[in-house]
Amino acid sequence: MTGSGRGKLILCGEHAVVYGWPALAFGTSLETRVTLRDRPGPTDVAAGCFRDARIVDALVAELGPDGVEVDVQSDIPVGRGMGSSAALAVALARAAAARRGDAPTDDAIDAAALRIERTFHGTPSGIDGAVAARGGLVAFRRTEAGPVIERLSPPPWSVVVLDSGCAGDTRVMVDGVRSRRPGVDDALARIGALVEDIRTVLPDVDAVGPRLVENHFLLREIGVSTPDLDALVSIALRSGASGAKLSGAGGGGVVIAVGRDPDRIVQGAMQHGIPAFVAVQGGALS
Ligand code: PMV
Repeated sequence: MTGSGRGKLILCGEHAVVYGWPALAFGTSLETRVTLRDRPGPTDVAAGCFRDARIVDALVAELGPDGVEVDVQSDIPVGRGMGSSAALAVALARAAAARRGDAPTDDAIDAAALRIERTFHGTPSGIDGAVAARGGLVAFRRTEAGPVIERLSPPPWSVVVLDSGCAGDTRVMVDGVRSRRPGVDDALARIGALVEDIRTVLPDVDAVGPRLVENHFLLREIGVSTPDLDALVSIALRSGASGAKLSGAGGGGVVIAVGRDPDRIVQGAMQHGIPAFVAVQGGALS
């Protein structure tokens, strides 16, 4: 039985989303696939690129200690803020439901994704699982009554990823931001307001870009950027991007960039030896 989940890229709103502010995120074409087979004896996990022991423990906790062979394949770079763990959780929930003969609801998938994400940090907002299960462009907000998830029309522009090559640890970054509250609360609120503002200009890449740069500076203010990520933002802007920012928890991971000429951004990054690719394909810009 096989299940899959998509990677995600947060366009804006990471960290603030943990405290109830809204965020916007894309599903990527990259995905994680989980295959389950019956086997005699203890559950055996071949987790491939997921080298983190917490992943293996979480999979065994979901499936039980005996009787399953688990094979994980993923195109999503791990530890780069691209939602590899949520994609895995969604893929696992789908494969496990297929094995039981169930057709899982989105809610069941989200719940499974949250359980696994809790092994990575104690207070996941749930945005990763919401996008991994649905794909497309999603507006997400955590409320006391549960998550509010809206699917939005995808904008016409593409999203380029520039990979720093280093992994960030989501738990460390989320705990760090929490420890800096209430000092960073004003910056978190400004990130939330930017998300609302970006929604109003979403089709216009020239208007979205500067707001992403502002979001990056706010993420730097709350202590989750690094000199390497700041340098990638500068390289993207010098390569014609209208905007760029770190995406995900930070401390490593990726920068996303948008602009009228995504290929030029990719080429500019590659000239500096930085792996870059178009992760969300837009249509033709007018
Ligand atoms: O795990 P990452 O790097 O994709 O970060 C998730 C986004 C955060 O807002 C930092 C945490 C969360 O649970 O929303």
